[in-house]
Amino acid sequence: MTSTLITSIGELVTCDDSTEDRLGIRHNAAIVITDDGISWIGADTEAPPADQRIDLGGRTLIPGFVDSHSHLVFAGDRSAEFAARMTGAPYDGGGIASTMAATRSASDDELRLPVAARVAEMRAQGTTTVEIKSGYGLSIADEARALRIAGEFTPETTFLGAHVVPPEWRHRRADYIDLVIGDMLSTAAPYARWIDVFCEPNSPYAFDADEARTVLEAGRDAGLELRVHGNQLGHGPGAQLAVELEAASVDHCTYLSDADVDALADASDTTVATLLPGVEFCTRSPYPDGARLLAAGVSIALASDCNPGTCYSSSIPFMIALAVREMGLTPAQALYAATVGAARSLRRSDIGRIVVGGRADLAVIEAPSHLHLAYRPGVPLVRALEGL
Ligand code: NIG
Ligand code: FE
Repeated sequence: MTSTLITSIGELVTCDDSTEDRLGIRHNAAIVITDDGISWIGADTEAPPADQRIDLGGRTLIPGFVDSHSHLVFAGDRSAEFAARMTGAPYDGGGIASTMAATRSASDDELRLPVAARVAEMRAQGTTTVEIKSGYGLSIADEARALRIAGEFTPETTFLGAHVVPPEWRHRRADYIDLVIGDMLSTAAPYARWIDVFCEPNSPYAFDADEARTVLEAGRDAGLELRVHGNQLGHGPGAQLAVELEAASVDHCTYLSDADVDALADASDTTVATLLPGVEFCTRSPYPDGARLLAAGVSIALASDCNPGTCYSSSIPFMIALAVREMGLTPAQALYAATVGAARSLRRSDIGRIVVGGRADLAVIEAPSHLHLAYRPGVPLVRALEGL
């Protein structure tokens, strides 16, 4: 087994919770990694011998980012819809149907190759774990295909047959839900770890609380774990439904009432509020107040939501910069949310931290401290060292 010593780490961000900022920062540190993961962490001056040596020259080493929310399996793009939105058109989920049509008519390779490119793009920006949803097939065969392809890239696959009601079912909503919880679910379930639903009464295309509950309970009965898209376009039942059903995460949380925040705080051991500031950026929506959530005791995560409609960005550094500038998080809180927080939303304790015995999923920042992630937005400072 080969051992590699990474030395001259100017700032090592371990995300060890026991420190005040929860980042567990060590200066002038070194670590040793082997095929089994991280085997030693300590002072540079005490580093043991190893087969290979990487000198970081004072750069920063962080846990690889965990992108716990993405929709990478799709064909085509919606750049014209984005341009229209920038001049005032609202987002209501209606554009999902055009991505669905392009996705259905793509060949397997026409779907697979762009996913590979998007995953490579994520990795180049420091992401070492990604969750990938279906949701642009919306038929039995096309949802199963999307999940099969997603599963070639990650074990964190999510069935999102209840993304929207597709056009051919629009006047038969109840029948579409029966399809989702029946044959579509049973065909998709072997390829999925999670089930998700777009619970959004403010969109005519998405699902209300009762419909969403029906879908999530069926998914749970089929052995899947639960996630929810909620509270994106306006106030709604998504966050409280996620808490009620003990979902791992409710994502977006753009509009939260005090009661929603209280419910999420009470459920902080179970349900994470995942913030997706790239969506607010790309849909010209108000940003949620991340500081309010943390002050109330809510567990938060930060993710990209990379998708062709509401945020075609795969960059977690960009999300961190937005979270700091627009959502009131400190750089430390934003980085923690994009690593440990996102890992918790995937119910994973083996990623998101740099610990002896843990996985060597690492990213390097070409800068002397993690503060540069938000301080130098748009500059490609980060790269993944291992993982994905
Ligand atoms: O997370 N809100 C629902 N789903 C995606 C957007 C999908 C799309 O517009 O293509 C989201 O924002
Ligand atoms: Fe999403």
